[in-house]
Amino acid sequence: MEFLAAVKNRRSIYGLGKDISVSEERIKEIVKEAVLHTPSAFNMQSARVLLLFGEHHHKLWSIVKETLRKIVKPEAFPKTEEKINTFDAAYGSLLYFDDTAAVASFQEQFPRYKENFAMWAQHANGMLQHVIWTALEAEGLGVNIQHYNPIIDDEVKATWGVPASWQLIAQMPFGSITEAAGDKEFAPIEERLKIYP
Ligand SMILES: Cc1cc2nc3c(=O)[nH]c(=O)nc-3n(C[C@H](O)[C@H](O)[C@H](O)COP(=O)(O)O)c2cc1C
Repeated sequence: MEFLAAVKNRRSIYGLGKDISVSEERIKEIVKEAVLHTPSAFNMQSARVLLLFGEHHHKLWSIVKETLRKIVKPEAFPKTEEKINTFDAAYGSLLYFDDTAAVASFQEQFPRYKENFAMWAQHANGMLQHVIWTALEAEGLGVNIQHYNPIIDDEVKATWGVPASWQLIAQMPFGSITEAAGDKEFAPIEERLKIYP
């Protein structure tokens, strides 16, 4: 039940700050355990994660901001900048990747399922994102998920020496909660879940 309560409690928190009461060691441990124990198809283990603190976290959001500055209309940029600043205001960030080399290796080993491995890698990556998101929120942190890939991919790879085979999937800022999540609407459960008999 504690697990379900944590699942229920997980939200997208957009008001994030640096005033956290969880240690970096605890955050590292959570991410490590999640990477180790989240399942993957054929036990492929293709998900890769960068955990960024301090200047590395700020560098990520500076890359996003400067990349967007080049492509967003100047009159629209202040709003964009304001949004990116909310992610930069967080304590740290996680970057999620799929290692396409691992996917290719499994495609070769199991040609019968060739078409499925890239999709299964995405499924497993999504599971990992959910485990980490929920576990960090269970520690009292606020978390949200962003997708500035693929426009930031090259610079992210160059900055952290990420192997060429790693494909960026998502960015996840986390920190203290400066503004709680609002109400959420739920589509009727009867239309989404059928139970027999
Ligand atoms: C696969 C996936 C992709 C998402 N992508 C984004 C995103 O790019 N930017 C964003 O602000 N929120 C993103 N979200 C957050 C959803 O909008 C949010 O989870 C949903 O509205 C439900 O709200 P809750 O997270 O507070 O429960 C994403 C969520 C999921 C599961």
